[in-house]
Amino acid sequence: MEEKKVVLRAEHITKEFGGLRAIDDASLYLKDNEILGLIGPNGAGKTTMFNMISGTLPLTSGKIYINGKLINKPVAHKMTALGIGRTYQVVQPFSNLTVIENTMVGAFLHTNDAKVAREKSMKVLELLGLAHKADVPGKDLALIDLKRMEVARALATEPTILLLDEVMAGLNPSDGLQVMDMIRQIKQTGISIIIIEHVMRAVMGLCERIYVLSQGKMLAEGTPAEVSSNPEVIESYLGGKHGNAKG
Ligand SMILES: Nc1ncnc2c1ncn2[C@@H]1O[C@H](COP(=O)(O)OP(=O)(O)OP(=O)(O)O)[C@@H](O)[C@H]1O
Ligand SMILES: [Mg+2]
Repeated sequence: MEEKKVVLRAEHITKEFGGLRAIDDASLYLKDNEILGLIGPNGAGKTTMFNMISGTLPLTSGKIYINGKLINKPVAHKMTALGIGRTYQVVQPFSNLTVIENTMVGAFLHTNDAKVAREKSMKVLELLGLAHKADVPGKDLALIDLKRMEVARALATEPTILLLDEVMAGLNPSDGLQVMDMIRQIKQTGISIIIIEHVMRAVMGLCERIYVLSQGKMLAEGTPAEVSSNPEVIESYLGGKHGNAKG
C-alpha cells in the first residue's frame, strides 16, 4: 500500500506564556485525508497547539511545515491562505448576521464578490446540512447548528487542513453522532482533519491515529487501540483520577 503523504508537520514546538511552558518540545504530523485526534487533560496545551499551527499565536520555538515546505513566520493570514482552517473551542458567531452571512465571512478570503461568496457558502451549508437555515440569524440557532455554522465558516475559507477544537462539547449524544457524521462527510471531500475532543466515543470512532498531550508534552501516539491501552495514557487521562475524558 502506498504511504499517504504528510500534509502538515509540527516539529519540536515550544510555547511559553511568561514562566509557563504550555507546549514543551511537542511534535506531530498529519497525513493526507487523515482524521487525526489530539487528546489530553484540561490545560494540556491542545488549543495552544492549534494556535501554533494556525498562526493565531507566535511560536516560542519549533518549526511548522506544510506539504513539506518550512513556513517562515507562521502568522494567521498566511496560514489561512496556505489552507489551514479552524474552529474555536468557544463558538464565535456574529449573532446578528444570518447563517449564510456568517459563512460568507470565511468565503470572502478568496473573493470580493458577494454573489460568488454567497454561492460558495451555500454549497458549504448544503454539505453540512444547514442550507435550510441559511437565513436564520446566528442568535436564533441551537448549539448544534451554531457548531455547524462555525465549521461552515472555516470550510468557506477552502482549507485543505481543518482543525476542529471540541466541536462536540456540550452536545447531547444524538447531536454528537450527527456531528461525527458531518466530520466524515468533510473527510469525503478530501480534507485532512485534526480534532481536539474529550468525547472518547467520538475520538475512537473517527480517528485513524491519536496523539496524547499531557502538561505540554507529547505522551503517546498511535491507533485508537494502541492509545487506549497505553498505561501512561490511562493514568494521565483516560482512567486516571486527573482525567476528564468522557465516555
Ligand atoms: N493566551 C494565553 N496566555 C497565558 N496562558 C495561556 C494562554 N493560552 C493558554 N494558556 C495556558 O496554557 C496552558 C494550556 O492551555 P490550553 O488552552 O492549550 O489547554 P487545553 O489542552 O486546550 O485545555 P482544555 O481541554 O481545557 O481546552 C494552560 O495552563 C493555560 O492556562
Ligand atoms: Mg482547549
